[in-house]
Amino acid sequence: MFLGLRPPTFDPLLCALGCSTISPVKVSVLLPAAGSGERLGRGPKAFLQVGGKTLLEWALQGFDWADERIVALPAGKALEEPGLRWVRGGSTRQQSVFNMLKIATGDMVLVHDVARPFVVREAVERLLEATRQTGAATLALPVADTLVENLHSDYGEVIPRERYRLVQTPQGFRRELLWKAHLAAQAASRQFSDDAQLVMALGHPVALVEGDRRMFKVTYPEDLELAAGLARMWPESQKPQAQD
Ligand code: CTP
Ligand code: MG
Repeated sequence: MFLGLRPPTFDPLLCALGCSTISPVKVSVLLPAAGSGERLGRGPKAFLQVGGKTLLEWALQGFDWADERIVALPAGKALEEPGLRWVRGGSTRQQSVFNMLKIATGDMVLVHDVARPFVVREAVERLLEATRQTGAATLALPVADTLVENLHSDYGEVIPRERYRLVQTPQGFRRELLWKAHLAAQAASRQFSDDAQLVMALGHPVALVEGDRRMFKVTYPEDLELAAGLARMWPESQKPQAQD
């Protein structure tokens, strides 16, 4: 894989579009954190603690290498941390991202849900490389379980899971492309649950890049228990596994 081919001094997180270019590309990381956490039922998820840190602090730490980090916050919250910028979130995720995009200055933007606190460096490296090559990419995972249609609570038709992917974040884009996509969606009054769909709606393909199951989204109460378990092993669990 490309990781093995990289010269030892190359750090893709610090030179996302290639260190050999004369002006290194600037990366803005946009962190939507303005949701209300209804399915979890304990208020805005971004401020829940796991392993001694809030989900927001975990996500911020995972992108501490970025040129710019912008957070969309729910009403009543503010952030005072040097080097961080924040905006008020909107009533939808799409609006929250749009509010951050308005002030983003990077050539490339990564949009990452704060509800995914564990940021796996190798997966982000894969995403940056694909975004550099294609202009739009997202992390995604194969479906592990049998996938079936819910037919009035009965076991319906089995769906060929090989054809499907579970979409994660971060998602990476050339900033101007994502900006155009947001403007077009607004003009058409269309709402999407992620940014890849916005860019697709503009007619631009979005590359699928292998994600990582540790980057799961904390959505339901039991996910908090999984997150607490993983927090105890972090960052050790991120170190490359020994090969036999
Ligand atoms: N988000 C946001 N602004 C919104 C809605 C969501 O910034 N108006 C963010 C959330 O904070 C989260 C991410 O989008 O980091 C993914 O959303 P989700 O997991 O659905 O979180 P919530 O919307 O908070 O949860 P729920 O749907 O259960 O209310
Ligand atoms: Mg939501």
